[in-house]
Amino acid sequence: MQFPKSEKLELELTSKCTLFCPNCPRTYQADQRKIWDNGHINHEALIEWLKSTGFTRFQLGGAYGDGIYHPHLVATLRAIKAMGPGHHFNFDTNGSYRSEKDWQAIADLMTRKDCIIFSIDGTPANFTQYRVNADWPSIEKGARIIANGNGRCRWKYIVFKYNQTFEDMKTAYDTAMDIGFPEFVIVHTHRAEAGQLANKEDFDENLTKLEEYVYNLNPPSMIGRQWAQPKLNVAVTPRTSMFKVKEIIENKEQNVHEKHVSNGKGNDITLLENKPDNKEIKLNVNKQRRYQWAPTIVRDPIHTEKVSPQCINMKNHSNFISSDGNFLPCCYMRVNQQDHFDHAGITKEDEKSLSIYNNTFDEIIEGVAIKKIMSNFDNIELCTRQCKKAKAI
Ligand SMILES: C[S@@+](CC[C@H](N)C(=O)[O-])C[C@H]1O[C@@H](n2cnc3c(N)ncnc32)[C@H](O)[C@@H]1O
Ligand code: SF4
Ligand code: SF4
Repeated sequence: MQFPKSEKLELELTSKCTLFCPNCPRTYQADQRKIWDNGHINHEALIEWLKSTGFTRFQLGGAYGDGIYHPHLVATLRAIKAMGPGHHFNFDTNGSYRSEKDWQAIADLMTRKDCIIFSIDGTPANFTQYRVNADWPSIEKGARIIANGNGRCRWKYIVFKYNQTFEDMKTAYDTAMDIGFPEFVIVHTHRAEAGQLANKEDFDENLTKLEEYVYNLNPPSMIGRQWAQPKLNVAVTPRTSMFKVKEIIENKEQNVHEKHVSNGKGNDITLLENKPDNKEIKLNVNKQRRYQWAPTIVRDPIHTEKVSPQCINMKNHSNFISSDGNFLPCCYMRVNQQDHFDHAGITKEDEKSLSIYNNTFDEIIEGVAIKKIMSNFDNIELCTRQCKKAKAI
């Protein structure tokens, strides 16, 4: 079987960052820097390689760095957009310390299908508790430029104990509204420092208050080129298996457990789970709140003894390029990469078959390293955990 081609590719343009977020691998693996700090990707080689691949949807993110610190970020984004009108990017960034001139150049490239996601976990006064060393003045300037442009932008607020109050969420939402963010996303995470995991019940109550607050504002409308009111959304921890239809957020309101899962035939199956019997509960103002994107599962999905591999079974599952120029089936493989390669029996020589500097895309997906991954899902501990075979499938 050949490794399936996807439209989506995550790019780790660099392993550099100026922040020290405690639950980021670059922070908690600071002692292993020699292993993961590859510096900046060769953007010219990357762009040449991309042209023959068929990828059209790019996610700038990565595990160890922030693309904002690649010296040729603007040229790279320009080259992606120049590949054709159907090429788009989403870019997760902490947003700090980049010049207004660069933000303007990025804004000028963007359309409504491109999005900058600013990771700001809290209010301007407290978000540096997680985003250690972030710089609000430069973030705000950048965000105002992007919000005034033709592209989209999103304030992404990961909830921790220090920022879980309704007042903090409201302050951040109001600031997002003032800046002109069209989107505001609350993210529930399991990745938190000791004592900083958000309390589920408090979080739920506060989120409902925020929903009520947003609901009672005027309906979304445009003032000039700016949105009067950001669209509120709720997401689960990124990088959670799409196969695991499980409760991530324990909201006791009615209808919020509606989850939509594709049946692979273009239809959505709506699963209603854990609908509470409690008649006393308040009306949930946002009946459409859904927690997970609907993935499309390919026909005749493949399951090994222990694994339902997302990279094989999900249509357009995002593949990954690390800052050292290696192609990986998914972002999960990047952290502790050597362990996963050892489990798959990938040698140093085999690893060369993953390099975008030495191979075409077709050579990579037909190469020995990808073949070893595909025949060793059950031996790769990461795959047995991240893509654990779901009982219902
Ligand atoms: C390593 S970061 C790279 C992108 C960029 N530097 C950023 O922070 O947005 C990859 C993703 O992990 C997210 N992230 C960081 N800490 C997290 C946490 N504790 N829980 C969930 N997601 C987290 C970031 O917001 C980002 O979307
Ligand atoms: S901004 Fe992103 S890359 Fe930088 S330390 Fe924080 S999570 Fe990691
Ligand atoms: S964890 Fe393993 S099975 Fe899952 S997407 Fe990544 S490579 Fe594929």
